[in-house]
Amino acid sequence: MRALYPALADGHAYLDGAAGTQVPVSVIEAIAAAYREGFGNLGGAFAASGRADAIVTHARAAVGDLVGAAPGGVVFGPSATSLAYRIADALSRAWTAGDDIVVSRLDHDSNVRPWIQVAGRAGVTVKWAEFDLVTGELPTAQYADLIGPRTRLVAVTAASNAIGTRPDVPAIAGLARAAGALCYVDGVHATPHAPVDMAGLGADFYTTSAYKWSGPHLAALAADPELLETVWPDKLAPSSNAVPWRFERGTLPFADLAGVTAAVEHLAALAPGAAAASGGASASRRERVLASMAAVEAHESALFARLLGGLAELDHVTLYGKAARRAPTAFFSVTGSSPREAAEFLASRGVNVWDGDNYAYELCTALGLEPDGAVRAGLVHYNDASDVDRLLEGVAELA
Ligand SMILES: Cc1ncc(COP(=O)(O)O)c(C=O)c1O
Repeated sequence: MRALYPALADGHAYLDGAAGTQVPVSVIEAIAAAYREGFGNLGGAFAASGRADAIVTHARAAVGDLVGAAPGGVVFGPSATSLAYRIADALSRAWTAGDDIVVSRLDHDSNVRPWIQVAGRAGVTVKWAEFDLVTGELPTAQYADLIGPRTRLVAVTAASNAIGTRPDVPAIAGLARAAGALCYVDGVHATPHAPVDMAGLGADFYTTSAYKWSGPHLAALAADPELLETVWPDKLAPSSNAVPWRFERGTLPFADLAGVTAAVEHLAALAPGAAAASGGASASRRERVLASMAAVEAHESALFARLLGGLAELDHVTLYGKAARRAPTAFFSVTGSSPREAAEFLASRGVNVWDGDNYAYELCTALGLEPDGAVRAGLVHYNDASDVDRLLEGVAELA
């Protein structure tokens, strides 16, 4: 499977997947094929326009299969951040002074700041869910106190992009629903690492960025189309009033959307044996995605155990977070080296890791790590034991 990724041929250990994965040749080809074949803008009288329409329809269906959503509730945008701002702006118009919202200090800032900013304008109180500084867990129990009758929205991540914690989203979303609040789940870091089922999570909104799962740089927001029908974003007068189109500003990146479908197909094909066992020869793409992502989760968790075990043996390494349920993402400091110095040293050895706060700004502030953050090594499905071992050897040399 690594051979399907041309970029991996440079021999580097790509442990920066949490900041964006490489793409397989099928995605590159799908994007090139869209341009080669030609497409027009949407709604024209000619065949090339119809091809753009088909690309969008296929991409909505693909993301629907990836996260367990209705294709008619899949909204595309340039990034998860811009989609969060779009929805925050639209939802907050119905909020009034005295309402409240709940955000978490575990979250990437894109699922924090947009909500705080619109809450400030609407006179709405912001309540904070805190994570445990030692374990990295986001205790569910606190939500029973935080969520009340005036709570309009609970924003929470399905996985921390820094320390990997996967909170108990179904429980948190259940508390939100019981109080009549909406739950906005940031699935950007969670989606590449395990099967996703929006309904099982209880998410009213779920965001995911294709560039974290072998696709191009764009994002999707999934929601029940009936919920989207109740929300009105700012939009141009002549653009469609229909859901999901009214949430998409301007012209969509059609060729990249062809790449989104190819990326989901790629994921669906990762574990053909498991898919055949679960659904037989006629397994739907949704079934194949679920089987594949379960295999991805198993592969990554074995590698992650090797990574965490190796780092734990190094006295000059401080690891952050040890939640029971985690995405395979390690966040650590190295005594005697700044995060950037450590990342530069590892880069000189062909090991790509991220350094900084990764926009997990509240988390890094709470851990006393701002402004430099820490080193992040994140595993994705194309990583193998040699990537992990090269990282461990490099970090050991920093002693
Ligand atoms: C957990 C999480 N949420 C949100 C984002 C922001 O995604 P985007 O770059 O699509 O705005 C990221 C990006 O790293 C992330 O890891």
